[in-house]
Amino acid sequence: MTTHRTIEFTLNGRPVTVHAGNHQNLVELLEGQGLFGARESCGQGLCGCCTVIVNGAAVSACLTMTTLVDGADVRTIEDIGPDGQLDVVQQAFIDTGAFQCGFCTPGFILMTRQLLDAHPNPTDDEIRHYLSGNLCRCAAYTEIIKAVRLAAASRKG
Ligand code: FES
Ligand code: FES
Repeated sequence: MTTHRTIEFTLNGRPVTVHAGNHQNLVELLEGQGLFGARESCGQGLCGCCTVIVNGAAVSACLTMTTLVDGADVRTIEDIGPDGQLDVVQQAFIDTGAFQCGFCTPGFILMTRQLLDAHPNPTDDEIRHYLSGNLCRCAAYTEIIKAVRLAAASRKG
């Protein structure tokens, strides 16, 4: 049985109040807010296409029920650049051609930011390990590794 409850949370820095169903996941909630960067693909927590940041941690929005974000801070790909500009990780993915269809790209970019926040100078093995939960059906992995290396260098300035 579907029931509804009021959910209050912070979405990309602004307070949001929604009336959400108990079966609604975070991807659907974000789409209702006009945000389509988190894409539902596998729907099983296996591909990383739906990655968003909740209270500073990367989560699969397809497996996150709306009730779990009540009171949380939610950040999406739409809000990672400063003042509407591209983040250096986004720019690095563009400069290295690290995507083809782009369906997986928001998840890879968010996870790359998480990686570089924790490990500013990752080795290629660390990059592969950290991004192992993100799948790219276009197999742009070689370019994605290059993008992460470039982003790491750009962050160091
Ligand atoms: S759609 Fe959520 S992990 Fe694949
Ligand atoms: S660029 Fe197409 S799925 Fe990754």
